[in-house]
Amino acid sequence: MENITLKPTWYINDAAFDWLYPERIQQLSRGHWTPMEVARKAAKFLAAGTGKKILDIGSGVGKFCLIGGYHFPEATFYGVEQRKELYHFALAAKELTASGNVNFINSNFTQIDLEDYDHFYFYNAFFENLVDEGQIDQQIEYSTSLYNYYSRYMFNALEDKPSGTRLVTFHSLEDEIPPSYQLVDATVDFLLKMWIKR
Ligand SMILES: C[S@@+](CC[C@H](N)C(=O)[O-])C[C@H]1O[C@@H](n2cnc3c(N)ncnc32)[C@H](O)[C@@H]1O
Repeated sequence: MENITLKPTWYINDAAFDWLYPERIQQLSRGHWTPMEVARKAAKFLAAGTGKKILDIGSGVGKFCLIGGYHFPEATFYGVEQRKELYHFALAAKELTASGNVNFINSNFTQIDLEDYDHFYFYNAFFENLVDEGQIDQQIEYSTSLYNYYSRYMFNALEDKPSGTRLVTFHSLEDEIPPSYQLVDATVDFLLKMWIKR
């Protein structure tokens, strides 16, 4: 019998990918998880070269990392997520998709060493501190001062990275981006931006 290797169905489109998760997580998809085409574009920019370690700061249920890991097997994708429940959903999706080059960490991003990673993806993770509604849950504390603290922390960490460090932001207010990062590409709507440190 012919040996047919089927392309995993999860990576066909956003709706198919959502089936990796329970219904409640699927319902958060449109507002909180990176659209598939955006994830692929961002990962392509970050994975350039060989053996790069890419960190998604605030990785949710792992969508960016899993799509990046699937399309760019030579890179390793890491996601750090503060919410334990989302981290567990990310781990379960990693198992289901047998994604060997994807890793998840359950932590606040301020508690890990950002020096360990080459390049970064950021989908406006701190914005939940600035709005009154639309958050993922009400399990954690939100405040403007936390937004400022996280943005400043990330700014300083990015400033310490070597020249050539790549960053992709999606829906960012850009408070976390040091001026040493040069905008090198963007989508027509300017929501997705690619940066390289000078
Ligand atoms: C907009 S979602 C993006 C999820 C994922 N990056 C994606 O694109 O599919 C932002 C995530 O960042 C997480 N987050 C916010 N602040 C964080 C922090 N200080 N440390 C770790 N995770 C954080 C939130 O819990 C949420 O899951």
